[in-house]
Amino acid sequence: MTSASDSQPAPEAPPTGAAERSWPADGPGVAQVGRRVGRVTINAPGPSTAQMFRDLLRARSAPADYLVQTQQRYGDIVQFPVPTMPVYLISHPRDVDQVLRINARGYGKRTIQYRNLALVTGDGLLAVDTPGWRRQRRLVQPAFHHEAIARVGTDTALVTDRMIERWRCLPDGAVIDADAEMMHAGLEIVCRSLFGTDLAGDVEATAQATLDALDVVVARARTPIAPPAWVPSPLNRTMARALRQLDGAVGRILRERSGEPGIDRQPDMLDLLIAARDEEGDAPFTEEELRDQIVTFLVAGHETVASSLTWTWWLLAAHPAVRAQAHAEVAAALGGAIPEVADLPRLPYLRAVVDEALRLHPPGWVISRRADAADTVGGVAIPEGSVLIISPWTTHRHPAAWADAERFDPDRFLPGAPPPVRGGYLPFGSGPRLCIGKDFALWESVLLIARVLQAFDVEPAGPPPRTRALVMARPDGGLPIRLVRR
Ligand code: HEM
Repeated sequence: MTSASDSQPAPEAPPTGAAERSWPADGPGVAQVGRRVGRVTINAPGPSTAQMFRDLLRARSAPADYLVQTQQRYGDIVQFPVPTMPVYLISHPRDVDQVLRINARGYGKRTIQYRNLALVTGDGLLAVDTPGWRRQRRLVQPAFHHEAIARVGTDTALVTDRMIERWRCLPDGAVIDADAEMMHAGLEIVCRSLFGTDLAGDVEATAQATLDALDVVVARARTPIAPPAWVPSPLNRTMARALRQLDGAVGRILRERSGEPGIDRQPDMLDLLIAARDEEGDAPFTEEELRDQIVTFLVAGHETVASSLTWTWWLLAAHPAVRAQAHAEVAAALGGAIPEVADLPRLPYLRAVVDEALRLHPPGWVISRRADAADTVGGVAIPEGSVLIISPWTTHRHPAAWADAERFDPDRFLPGAPPPVRGGYLPFGSGPRLCIGKDFALWESVLLIARVLQAFDVEPAGPPPRTRALVMARPDGGLPIRLVRR
C-alpha cells in the first residue's frame, strides 16, 4: 500500500552528497566524460565501448552482480556507452529516492523492460506509462484494501496445509526443491485470491499461458536482436499461441462472472475489479482492461513472492541461530494453531526475517524509468529521454544505505531498529508506483513460513545457490532443502 511517507515529496530538496561519492579516474576501460558515442554525449563515468563488449558475457551470466561491480568500479551514477540514448545506472540511495519518489512525476515507464512486459500484461497497472496510470490505480486500489486482502490468510493456510500433507508422505530428512514448491504454492495462493477457486479449468489455463508468455519475454530479453512481433519466428509463434490461450481462458472466466445472478460467496479480487467504480467518475474497467489487470496480478504476484520465500528458506536453513529464534517465536505466538492475519503483529521476528531476505535477494532486481523531462541527479545533468536503471540489488548493498551489507541480520528490521535510509530499501519500489501488492505479499510470506515451521525444521542440502536474474532473481537450478519433522 502507498503510505504517506512513501508517496509525499520530502519537505526540502536533497543535498547532492557529492562529497560522499567516489569518482574513478579516467583510465583503461573507462569512458571519458565529454566524449560522444553515436548521438549521445557521455557526461558521467562508465565503461568504454570496448570494456562493455569485454563485460558482455559476465553481464549476461550474472547481471545483478555485474551491476554491483559496475557501481563499485565507476561510482554512484554510471553512464553506459549506448549510442542511441543516454543510459545511466543510479545507485546512491539519495539519488534513487529523488528519481522514484521526490521527482517521480518527471519519470515514466516507456522503457524496454516495461515494453517487453506489456507484450504479456498489456497496459495493466504494472507496465502502464504515467498518463493512464492514475485512473487505473484508483480503480484497482479497493481490491488491495486490508479487508479485501484478508482472505489471503485463509487461502495461504489452505494451500500450505496441502503442501505440508504432501511433505508428510516423504521420509523424514527428505530433500525438496524449495524453488519449485514455492512457485507452485505462490501460484495457487494468488489464483485463489484472484478467482476464489482452485487451480483448475480456465484458471489453470490462464496461469499456464501467462507463464508460457513470460518465458518468451525472458527469451526475447536474452536475444540480442529479437525479431519484431509480426515475424513468424519460433519465439513469436509461441508468444502468439500463449496469448490466444490466455485471452480465450480469461474471456470465458469473465463471461461466467457476468452470468452470475448475484454474489452469495466471499468476494474475490476479480469481483472487486469488476465492480470497481471511482468517486471521480472514472469509467469502470473494460473487458480488455480487466484481462490486462488479471494477467498483471498473475505475473507480478506469483514469481515475486515465490522467489522471496525461496530465498528466505535458504537463509533460514543456513543460519541455525536465526531459525531457532523463528521457531521460538512461532511456538510462543501460536502453539499449534493455524496462523491467521490477526496473528501477524505477534510474529515480528518472522517479518524481520522476510524483510531482510528481501533486502539481500530482492526479486525485482531492476527498476527502469525514462526521463520525461531533463533533471539533475547527483550533480549529473540527465537529458530528457534518458533511461535510468535502478537496481534494488545494488542499492541494498550500498555502504551509504547499509553497514556490513552482505551479512544476513534480521535484527536490522526489528521494531525499534533505526528505519532504513530513504531510498536505501526498495524491494517493493518506492514513491507513487510502490507495489500495490506489498501487504498481500508480506502477509502471505509470514503466514506460510509460520505454518511450515510448526511442522518442519529446514536444513541446507547443498552449497549456497547462485542467483539467476531474469525477470526475477531466483536461485539457479532450484534450491534443495532438507525437511526434518518436528
Ligand atoms: C515479494 C513480492 C513482491 C515484490 C518483491 C514486488 C515488487 C514490486 C516492485 C519493485 C514494484 C515497482 C516497480 C516499479 O516501480 O517500476 C512493484 C509494483 C507492482 N506490483 Fe509488486 N511485488 C511483489 C508482490 C506483488 C503482488 C502479490 C502483487 C499483486 C497480487 C503485485 C502487484 C504489483 C503491481 C500491480 C505493481 C504496479 C503498481 C503501480 O505501478 O501502481 N506485486 N512490485
